[in-house]
Amino acid sequence: MNLEVTEESCEKMTEKTLLVIKPDAVQRGLIGEIISRIERKGLKLNALKMIKLTEDDVDKLYDIHVEKGFYPLLKSFILSGPLVAISIQGKNCVKIVRKLAGATNSPEAEPGTIRGDFGIDLTKNIVHSSDKPERALYELGVLFESEDYVSFDLINKSWVE
Ligand code: CMP
Repeated sequence: MNLEVTEESCEKMTEKTLLVIKPDAVQRGLIGEIISRIERKGLKLNALKMIKLTEDDVDKLYDIHVEKGFYPLLKSFILSGPLVAISIQGKNCVKIVRKLAGATNSPEAEPGTIRGDFGIDLTKNIVHSSDKPERALYELGVLFESEDYVSFDLINKSWVE
């Protein structure tokens, strides 16, 4: 067994998550505000793109919800305009980004969270973020290709870990 720790194997070991800035937040000019909160927390963005999803993309991204009653509304909202997909990398990033996002239902989200500060609705709830590390890898795989990722070290890395 090869136990050598290379830069590449470290990259693979670090937790990753997906953050989607949904069409409502894009239209409301909140992209910079939301990205700023992730950066100020100390997390690293290692892939980012603005895209309009296809129906197939939405079905894959939300595969666990396709049978649910709210899915048609969610799907038409996600298809209604461009969104920004961001891959975030860093220790405990799945939990941290969920905390920064706040409760799924915006009216229940605490002030100070992204949804608590900007959302008023359950479907139009500003952002989506993966709820588990395994789920993050699946969802990132729906929206990103391997060549979309950039491998680099933040110069402040030692101050935020
Ligand atoms: P999101 O984090 O993107 O994950 C699934 C989305 O479905 C959720 O945010 C909400 O926008 C939307 N949604 C609509 N109705 C419900 C519901 N009853 N329960 C959970 N999510 C819902």
